[in-house]
Parts: sequence; structure tokens; C-alpha cells
Amino acid sequence: MIGIAVVSQKGGVGKTTVALNVAYALARRGSRTLLIDLDPSGSIGLSLTRRVAKAPGVAEFASRAAPLERLLIETRLNELMILPAGQVPPLRAPDFANILSSGEVLRDLCRVLRDDIDIVVFDTPSGFGGATLGALKTADYAMCPVQAEPVAARLVLRVLDLIAGLREEGAHVTLAGILITMLQQQSKPSTTVAEELWQSLPKDLLFRTSIPRDAAFLDASAAGVPVGLLRRRAPPVAMAFEQLAAELEQRIGLVPKESRDGPIALVD
Ligand SMILES: Nc1ncnc2c1ncn2[C@@H]1O[C@H](COP(=O)(O)OP(=O)(O)OP(=O)(O)O)[C@@H](O)[C@H]1O
Ligand SMILES: [Mg+2]
Repeated sequence: MIGIAVVSQKGGVGKTTVALNVAYALARRGSRTLLIDLDPSGSIGLSLTRRVAKAPGVAEFASRAAPLERLLIETRLNELMILPAGQVPPLRAPDFANILSSGEVLRDLCRVLRDDIDIVVFDTPSGFGGATLGALKTADYAMCPVQAEPVAARLVLRVLDLIAGLREEGAHVTLAGILITMLQQQSKPSTTVAEELWQSLPKDLLFRTSIPRDAAFLDASAAGVPVGLLRRRAPPVAMAFEQLAAELEQRIGLVPKESRDGPIALVD
């Protein structure tokens, strides 16, 4: 099992959108994938259906109120499951973060599912609070969306510092990559920031894929679906996540299950 935490210090940069859509793309490509919502405001739940928002999840697993198999939500893809954050009253949000901060609860959770899941994607709340720290102490990789805007480069450095600090304390998380999100190809300020990032960061730190700003993401979150399920013929931006998933698979060294992978005959 490989754990990937989607983290950023700044809110609203597209973490939940990236976590949901990349989990969907990884599952479509054949990895048994679990998307775990660690945002006590239930952001995955909110962007999917009301059923997910109201379901028990991580909070109930942590308090031992329910066994894990009853908390997992199946999706229309056999390979994709969702574990919601669960029911956390706003006043209890700090307790939820505290319980998760050591990473022990999340490591327990992963241990139970070790044989059934290939990839766990953690959607985290913004900032470097308890849930995010717990995810980073559990995950093998971190993925950091940055919005194509002027403060982006500074924020990237803080994520790198955090990961370095956690590794010094014994965590094994490494950076899978920085992902430029909400890129506006027609806007000079947006492309300038992207160019600055491409020039200032080592090439292997940045995903070659970037996610464009596109109204389809708003439509998809209003409809409660990954953008690939917005309509029968998925909009072009869904392909950005196919490409991202393929790139991510290479970066995390995901070995194809088929032992003899290679060209597949077009004609017998
Ligand atoms: N590439 C995109 N193009 C257009 N809109 C987007 C894109 N990515 C995300 N959005 C929209 O931007 C808003 C914020 O995105 P999202 O919720 O994914 O960010 P977040 O980092 O998870 O936020 P938070 O820090 O609150 O958890 C949402 O309304 C989402 O639909
Ligand atoms: Mg979010």
C-alpha cells in the first residue's frame, strides 16, 4: 500500500479537487484506491453527495464507535472507495485534529486495509494542523497543489521545510511533487507565476502536468462528481487528471501488477 497526502498551507488551492479527481483517475487505471477525507468540515463529503457528508468515517474509527469495514463507502468504480471524515461537531474539530496528529490512528487504519488497497489518498484541511501532520507522518508521499498566483513560490518552500522537519523526526514521507493548479493560460500574471516556478524549482519537484482553471470543476463539484463523470463524454480537463495519475504512478514507483507489462497487440 502506498499513501499519498495532498497538502497545502493555504486554503482553497484545489486540494480536495485534486484528491478526488486523482483518486478517481488512479482507480480507473486499475489501482485499488481509497480516498480518505481528513477535513473535519467534510470537504469531500460536501463536494460529493449528502449521504457522504452525513456518514460516519475517520472520527468514528478513531473513537472505535464502528469497525472500518462498515465505514467504507463504495463507488460506481469497483476500484475506488471513500472514507468520509465522519461526524465532527465544529466545537470538537480541535479534538479530531489532536487525535490524528501523531499519525497512530491513520497508521492503524492503513494496517487494517493493507491487503485490500493499493493506494490511499488523504485529502487534508488547509494549514499544517493535526490532521495534516498525521497524514504526513503516515503517508509515503506528499503532493502539494499550488495555485498559479504570486505567493506560490514562498508557500512551496514552507511545505518543503515541513517535510524536511518531519523526516528529521523519523517520518519517511517524501515529496511526490508540486502541482500547479488553476492555471489560466490566457492570463499573463498566472502564466508568469507558473514560469517562475518552472525556472526556480528543480525540474523533478514540479509535476509536468498542471491543472487549468476551468468552469467544469465548479459544475462537477455542484453535481457532486469527479470531473470525469460530469457527462458521458468527459470534458477535456478530465484528461489533465489522467495525465497526472500516469505521472504520479511513475513518481511513486507503482509497479504494474502484470509481471509482463509491455505493448498490447492491436490486432491478433
Ligand atoms: N482547476 C480548477 N478550476 C476551477 N475551479 C477550481 C479548480 N480547482 C478547484 N476549483 C474550485 O475552487 C474551489 C476551491 O477548491 P478546493 O475545495 O478543491 O480547494 P481546497 O484547497 O480543498 O480548499 P480548502 O482549503 O477549503 O479545503 C472549489 O469551489 C473548486 O470547485
Ligand atoms: Mg479541501
